[in-house]
Amino acid sequence: SSAKLWGGRFTGATDPLMDAFNASIHFDKRLFEADILGSQAYAKALAKRGIITSNECELIVDGLKKVLEEWRTNTFKIQPADEDIHTANERRLGEFVGSVAGKLHTGRSRNDQVATDLRIWAREEAKKLLVYVKQLIYAAVERAEKEIDVLMPGYTHLQRAQPIRWSHWLLSYAWSWQADAQRLEQIIDRINVLPLGSGALAGNPFNIDREFLAKELGFKSVIQNSLYGVSDRDFVAELLFWASMTMIHISRFSEDLIIYSSGEFGFVSLADAYSTGSSLMPQKKNPDSCELLRGKSGRVFGQLSGFLMTYKGIPSTYNKDLQEDKEPLFDAVETLAGSLQITTGIHPENMKKNLSIDMLATDVADYLVRKGVCRVPFRETHHIAGAAVKTAEDRNITMANLELSDFKQLHSSFEQDVTELWDYEKCVENRSSVGGTSRATVLEQIQNLKRLLNEN
Ligand code: ARG
Repeated sequence: SSAKLWGGRFTGATDPLMDAFNASIHFDKRLFEADILGSQAYAKALAKRGIITSNECELIVDGLKKVLEEWRTNTFKIQPADEDIHTANERRLGEFVGSVAGKLHTGRSRNDQVATDLRIWAREEAKKLLVYVKQLIYAAVERAEKEIDVLMPGYTHLQRAQPIRWSHWLLSYAWSWQADAQRLEQIIDRINVLPLGSGALAGNPFNIDREFLAKELGFKSVIQNSLYGVSDRDFVAELLFWASMTMIHISRFSEDLIIYSSGEFGFVSLADAYSTGSSLMPQKKNPDSCELLRGKSGRVFGQLSGFLMTYKGIPSTYNKDLQEDKEPLFDAVETLAGSLQITTGIHPENMKKNLSIDMLATDVADYLVRKGVCRVPFRETHHIAGAAVKTAEDRNITMANLELSDFKQLHSSFEQDVTELWDYEKCVENRSSVGGTSRATVLEQIQNLKRLLNEN
């Protein structure tokens, strides 16, 4: 046990099962770069306070660069005693620069070290995810712009409701993703505060310059309480929630496409690049991409709830439970990076108009409201329009095939111009208040989303 960083006070050996149970190197090796950047900054801060000489500092910083190079070229050899990324890097640094490596950890603890590493890693990964989200929004916006002419049935309760623009449907998801992008930007701000210099829990005894450390490592400010600094993992929970929320949007989008691409709906077919066939049934083209996206959302929610369970009962400051923060975060980030890129690539082909006259029933009611210049209350016109639907249905025809006399029988305000209602394009264009499905308001959404995309 003397090979261990903390071996001094131990005489007995650790149970090998415990060694394996305790080790986190097999997953936290992902933090290699963050760990080395943090150590290089800390060495400089030690030199600034005269704890190490500038010569020693140079040795350490250069040695760490060599360690980093090994990770990058996949030549770093993990040893059995390397319990986590912090011990592995320090051990290897010692092999490069000798005993001066042992000065690096002065006043530092793995507690403030790991909190710092994880924040650096999370910040950089979140920035990448933000790019992916924005690419996804951009793809949706571009598509919406190109296909603004296409109309489709809009649904409530999965029942035909009113005609809408296909672009309007597409942009409804773009707006969700826009909110996701905004949320992520805010989370990045909260990640980006520095724990390093908190020590094990009580603070740094060498008056280390934490503002300097923050600047070196790109943090916006310094965490003001060392106990909070070593134990706060709210940013992990926030990222996991963000990932869950974003996956909900992706999952619902996927579900729509799965339904729309079924033979029964037949609105779209998915591009070959994102579908697969059946080994048995030659005619099949399955929307596997969408099903996987819908499926993977469940896995991400599981990571969120799992981590919250781990986090809830931990007493003040660092406890080893916190080592369990990493795998859920790594897995969720990886799943999101993949899912966002796949979602961006999915291209539904041939959106087909698939409308029916009954979807204009609301417009019949609205027509009467306009005719009566508000004398007839909508509740009543709704009833009359319903009766028109019923009459047509009973005769096995559409409302468009009813005679004016049929309408007159339902209400005297109906006139010849009722036939002008049987026009889906007009129906859609009527919805021209902000947020509606008319061409102008959809184009406005496109402009606004583009502006938001270009803001940062
Ligand atoms: N591998 C540990 C983790 O991920 C590093 C911190 C260990 N600190 C300690 N006091 N044991 O949380």
